[in-house]
Amino acid sequence: MNTIFKHTQIYFLSGTGNSFRVASWIHETALQQGGLANLTPIEAARPSEEIYPGADSLLALVFPTHGFTTPWAMLKFALRLPACKATSVIVLPTRAGVKFGRVFLPGLEGTAGYLLAAIFALKGYRIRGVMALDMPSNWIALHPGFSIPSAQAIIQRARPKLNLFLHNIYAGKNDLRGIIPLLLGLALLPVSAGYLLIGRFGLCKLFFATNRCDGCGLCARNCPANAIVMKGKHPPRPYWTFSCESCMRCMNFCPKQAIEASHLLAVVFLMITNVSASVLLLNWISSQISWISRLNNSIVSWLLQYVYILTSMAVVYWLFSKLICVPWINTFFSYATLTRFYRRYHEPDTKLEQLKKNKLHHDR
Ligand SMILES: Cc1cc2nc3c(=O)[nH]c(=O)nc-3n(C[C@H](O)[C@H](O)[C@H](O)COP(=O)(O)O)c2cc1C
Repeated sequence: MNTIFKHTQIYFLSGTGNSFRVASWIHETALQQGGLANLTPIEAARPSEEIYPGADSLLALVFPTHGFTTPWAMLKFALRLPACKATSVIVLPTRAGVKFGRVFLPGLEGTAGYLLAAIFALKGYRIRGVMALDMPSNWIALHPGFSIPSAQAIIQRARPKLNLFLHNIYAGKNDLRGIIPLLLGLALLPVSAGYLLIGRFGLCKLFFATNRCDGCGLCARNCPANAIVMKGKHPPRPYWTFSCESCMRCMNFCPKQAIEASHLLAVVFLMITNVSASVLLLNWISSQISWISRLNNSIVSWLLQYVYILTSMAVVYWLFSKLICVPWINTFFSYATLTRFYRRYHEPDTKLEQLKKNKLHHDR
């Protein structure tokens, strides 16, 4: 064995396969080093059986950047892991690499890597490395997906960068990168906090199935957050709950290309959650319930506003899910979103089965 690590446990969260691809490269390298390696999606993790405490054990975490920070599902996962004093950790967020002609532009991971690393440091793990990798942007609600050649060109650049990083890690060195993105991420903390507290809930309520949907339920069965419920009968249609992480798996792997994100609904959400509407409602609530007006406390009014925003989005989405069962309304919303014209994306060599909740690779 050419490494100080006898055992590498790799956990990944991946919507469209980018983070899975990076995780599988780590798995390959760990085996080449002569150690044991295990690759598991976080939704199938059994940490007490999988993480070996000790100085000869390495834990790798790979996940997408969302809102310039760590996705909520990954934060939750890290918080529930056991404290392991001597175990080493490497943290690798993937981010939105972009290619325009011959020009490659990096994504911005912000606090994604170091926030997770901080949680592990507080639990007593030894942080060995942090590095973001540019993989093709998968945010198809926002822009068309990359063509396969462009995606492959971006992916090919990530591999040597990862190899160099892993070379250092398996040789027992530390490799902490991304200090400038971290500083930018700290400046963008209000955006990241807004994303985690409200943005992600709004984004997940933009998804809907068009008339092309045949109710096969593939999206619900393969959602890593278990956030999709099939509702109705003729045919059943997917309904996105607040547990959705906007990972884009459903939209990008749907065989009928029947899942869109409604830009029109985004405008409606912006209107109903705008300050004047909520202030009117909150003023009315405090005029009806005297103890609230007496409190005159900014935290209370912030909380009320927060509850108002989430409730109004949930109610509007519920109504919307009923309306789009009417075929002509569904057609109208399908044509009123740009995603109808956007190419879908997933990591070109990744099949949906590889991302599934079952354990992927066992120790070798
Ligand atoms: C909702 C959402 C938010 C995103 N936010 C960011 C971001 O803040 N910075 C960034 O560089 N990439 C961002 N991305 C791009 C993904 O992090 C990137 O494409 C990642 O490699 C996807 O990995 P996956 O295929 O494993 O899910 C975002 C993607 C989505 C869907």
